[in-house]
Formats: sequence, structure tokens, C-alpha cells
Amino acid sequence: MASRVFLLFVLLQLVQSDKLLFEQGKMRLGTHGRKRNYYNVHHIDEKLIGQGHQLVVVRAWMETVHPEAVRNLRSLENLVMAKCHIVKVENKAFVNLPNLTALRLNDNDIGEVKKGVFNELPIKVLSLQRNAIKKIDSGAFDDMPNLYKIKLNSNRLKSWDSAWFKNCPKLTELYFRRNRLNHLPASAFANIKGTHLVDGERVMDTKIFLSKNKLGTITPESFYNLEAISQLYLDRNNITEVPGGAFRDLKEIHVIYLARNKIDEVKDNAFPKVRSIGILDFSSNLLECLPYGLVTVANITNLEKNNGSCSCIRDYKARLEKEQRKNEISYEKEDCPE
Ligand SMILES: *[C@@H]1O[C@H](CO)[C@@H](O)[C@H](O)[C@H]1NC(C)=O
Ligand SMILES: *[C@@H]1O[C@H](CO)[C@@H](O)[C@H](O)[C@H]1NC(C)=O
Ligand SMILES: *[C@@H]1O[C@H](CO)[C@@H](O)[C@H](O)[C@H]1NC(C)=O
Ligand SMILES: *[C@@H]1O[C@H](CO)[C@@H](O)[C@H](O)[C@H]1NC(C)=O
Repeated sequence: MASRVFLLFVLLQLVQSDKLLFEQGKMRLGTHGRKRNYYNVHHIDEKLIGQGHQLVVVRAWMETVHPEAVRNLRSLENLVMAKCHIVKVENKAFVNLPNLTALRLNDNDIGEVKKGVFNELPIKVLSLQRNAIKKIDSGAFDDMPNLYKIKLNSNRLKSWDSAWFKNCPKLTELYFRRNRLNHLPASAFANIKGTHLVDGERVMDTKIFLSKNKLGTITPESFYNLEAISQLYLDRNNITEVPGGAFRDLKEIHVIYLARNKIDEVKDNAFPKVRSIGILDFSSNLLECLPYGLVTVANITNLEKNNGSCSCIRDYKARLEKEQRKNEISYEKEDCPE
């Protein structure tokens, strides 16, 4: 009896440690390599596929990417596992990939990002576009020393977490378009630096894309600590007003894109410290006017398609000219005749 139990135990252990990743699928190693069929794959490693810089896995039905699914590929730089029906990625699914630069898991059915899956990977690019992600653990992206770009467009995120991206000093491009974010918590971008050292020089290069979400009211606390940033995209949301202190700490920005919202008011002290704006885009909103001070710090203010802003535009243009300022206001001339 005892020996049978023991045998069963050993068998179970074997099954567990040797889970199947996929039954059948195609993989291509290298940019110009040919796709080959693979059957009953448990782990993707050098033993199975040899060495190469780029690996593309396609048409493999893998649902769960279990621990050590992809492992010990010393020269691998680019890993793509798209359209593989992945629902779940488990802890330590990707191990010992010392040269991995980009990991792309686009067009799968991933619903959640757990802590422990991506942390400490050496990647610069992480792309999880067009999945079904609703939940991301607070620590899911911590400690990614090289992470430069993260792409999460077209998922189902409803909430943002201010604790994301702890110790990701190089993070510069954040793509969160086409999600369902309905508000931003206080200090939403506390862990994100607007400027980075590039070849010893400080460069204002951070870009945050939040277009096409469901953001409503802007709460001033959300943008606390954001002092300088290259581009902030908040277009195609449901924003009605830019309240006082909304960008309390902002001093400089290249592009702030608030087009296609329902903004009917920008409060006087919405940008209390701003010194320089490249493009301030409020096109396709419901503005009748906005604070003159803001127009004088922006190289270009876009007020196209704001019904009812003509007299304000006329006044401001005359005033800018009188004061010999070079700031431009962009608007549709046929809608606002002289
Ligand atoms: C890892 O990448 C570096 C730089 O591209 C290269 O010199 C090195 O040989 C790679 N390591 C392996 C094991 O291929
Ligand atoms: C947009 O905001 C309004 C209130 O300002 C709300 O009634 C409406 O449901 C919101 N729309 C979406 C798509 O969230
Ligand atoms: C505004 O325009 C000036 C002159 O073209 C340029 O040097 C400056 O960088 C622009 N400001 C921003 C914030 O883009
Ligand atoms: C906005 O513009 C459209 C088209 O030019 C016009 O029909 C409409 O009356 C305008 N609405 C307001 C509130 O000015």
C-alpha cells in the first residue's frame, strides 16, 4: 500500500515538474530563419531551439505560461509570443535570459499582471498590447533597471496605481491608450521621472499616453510632482474642467494634448508655475476662453473647434500683437472671421 502511494506521489511530481507548455506550435529563431513546427514542448530553451537573437512563437496554444517556460537562452534579445491564446503568465515564467531586450506578448488574453513575472528582467521594452488586462499588482513592474518603454494600449484597465514602476529609473515612454481608466489617483506619476540623463545630459523626454480612456474630473493631486515632461496625452477622455492647481508642480512641457474632451473651463491657477509650454492643445472642446497668462507661456495654443471662443481669440490676438509677443493661437479662420 505504502509503496503504491509512493509511486503515485513520484508520478504526480513528475507531471508537475514537467508541465506541457504547448502541444503543437510554430517557432522561428532569428530574423530570417524559417518557421518550424514543434510538438509537445515543455520548456523553450537552448536544448530545444539552439542559439539566436530573436525568437518568434506563433500559432502555439499555450493558455498558461508556467514557471521556466522560457529559460536559459543566453543570446536571446527579442522574444515575441503573440496570438498564442495566453491567459495566464506565472511567476518566473522567463528565467535566465541575460540578454533579453524586448518582450512582446501582444494579442493574447492575459487578464492580470502578477508581481514576480517581469520584475528584474533586463528588458528595455515590454509590450502587452491588445490583451484583456484588468488588474496589475502594485509591484508588478518594480525593479526593472533598463525598462524604457511599456505598451499597454487596448486593455481593460479601470484604475491606475501610483505605486507602479518603483525603481524603473529609465522609464520614458508609457502607452496606456484605449483602456477604461476613469480617474487618476493622487501622485499618479510619483515614480516617473520627466527627465533622464542621456549621454551625461539631462533631457526632458518622458511621454505619457492616456488617450481614449474615460478620465472625468482632473483632481489636482493626480499630477503632483510632475515638474517637467515632454508629452502628456489626455485627449479623447471625458474631462470637463481643468481646475485650480491641476498642474501644481509643472514648470515645463513640450506638448500637452487635451483635445476632444468636454472642457468648458480652465481655471486661472490651473498651471501656477508653468514657464514654458510648446504646444497647448485644447482643440475640440467647449471653451469660450482660457486664462491669457497661459497663452503667453505657450508657443502655440490650439483652440480649433471650440465653438464660441472667437471673441476671446480675437481679443487675445490683438493683445499679443500689442505686447509684441510671438505666441500663436491656432483656430479655424472660416469659423472666426475677422
Ligand atoms: C549578449 O549580448 C552582448 C551584446 O550584444 C554580446 O556581446 C554577448 O555575446 C551576448 N551574450 C551571449 C551569450 O550571446
Ligand atoms: C462623462 O462624464 C459625465 C459627467 O460629467 C457622465 O455623466 C458620463 O457618464 C461620462 N461618460 C463616460 C463615457 O464615462
Ligand atoms: C518654444 O519655442 C522656442 C523657439 O522656437 C523653442 O526654443 C522652445 O523649446 C519651445 N518651447 C517648448 C516648451 O517646446
Ligand atoms: C457650433 O458650431 C456649429 C457648426 O459651426 C453650429 O451649428 C452651432 O450652432 C455652434 N454652437 C454654438 C454653441 O455656438
